[in-house]
Amino acid sequence: MDTTDSPRSYRIAVLPGDGIGPEIMQVTRAVLEAIAPKFQLDFTFVEGLAGGAAIDATGDPLPAATLDLCRHSDAVLLAAVGGEQWDSLPARQRPEQALLGLRAGLGLFANLRPAQILPQLVDASTLKPEVVEGVDLLVVRELTGGIYFGQPKGIFSGEAGQRRGVNTMAYTEPEIDRIARVAFEAAQHRRGQVCSVDKANVLEVSQLWRERVLAIAPQYPDVTLTHLYVDNAAMQMIRNPKQFDVILTGNLFGDILSDIAAMLTGSIGMLPSASLGAPGSVGLFEPVHGSAPDIAGKDLANPLAQVLSAAMMLRYGLQEPAAATAIETAVLRVLALGKRTGDIWSAGCDRVGCQAMGEALLAAL
Ligand code: IPM
Ligand code: MG
Repeated sequence: MDTTDSPRSYRIAVLPGDGIGPEIMQVTRAVLEAIAPKFQLDFTFVEGLAGGAAIDATGDPLPAATLDLCRHSDAVLLAAVGGEQWDSLPARQRPEQALLGLRAGLGLFANLRPAQILPQLVDASTLKPEVVEGVDLLVVRELTGGIYFGQPKGIFSGEAGQRRGVNTMAYTEPEIDRIARVAFEAAQHRRGQVCSVDKANVLEVSQLWRERVLAIAPQYPDVTLTHLYVDNAAMQMIRNPKQFDVILTGNLFGDILSDIAAMLTGSIGMLPSASLGAPGSVGLFEPVHGSAPDIAGKDLANPLAQVLSAAMMLRYGLQEPAAATAIETAVLRVLALGKRTGDIWSAGCDRVGCQAMGEALLAAL
């Protein structure tokens, strides 16, 4: 920790987005403001429009001003985007485009999604306690390539007036190499295991993926590399999730497997994520969950994934690990006190709303 008097200043782009986004962001900002003086930090939060909120205000899910704000910040804290009222818009105008545009626009190719079963929440999982107890894995998902971005893509007119929907799953060697390195380096700081997940028994794109991951592996002799086909990986994550340390995978498989990882922990409302680019670029930190419009504005949302995303921002984006740990410890403390939002509630616990969870966090800090 810095012992000089002048605080370290950070400009944070804050994108509350839609649904429960604004409520969980409010709790998170309060937590960041509370820890700032303790660690000589000084945050300037600048709010931007993204997702449905941006569509309503400007017609564009990711206005240029928002991308600009993010580019000129030290980190981006995003809540969630999307909602039924925008679902009928054409794909390119939907709230989700804000996310894809931010990922591509900021070059955030590495998505880190840790799933750790907190002892306090073993009973919140739908799986047996003996299966999930002790699970501690990290999904490293490639985020700016694969089928999400491959060309050609679109809905084209085909034969006999029948339309044809097309997406292309493509990876170049450099794209595979750089995400593989992120996974190997992460494993070096964990338990030294990478499981690369692909569909190399069917897809050429996966054959190249496996070939490149195998080629990179010798540079990390302290890491053990294994491979699984994605269907088997999905099964293994439910059957015996403790076997995994780092899961390295592409964009689409990572999207799916990280939802499974989330449910191991009992609720997707608990999972943070970090999206990172090349060293020195602005990182984006957001919960894995969506905007949950069904519970928006009812003070029912679980703010912990957002709060833990702020901790990831401190750790991976701003290199402030002590402040990150303080937030993570506060989360463990409120859970140990039995505070639970509805999604993680179990008998005997104290059911609280989003705001009360925020107040409990502030007290724990
Ligand atoms: C996620 C989400 C997004 C994705 C959607 C909302 C575009 O599911 O971050 O996992 O598919 O990447
Ligand atoms: Mg997803």
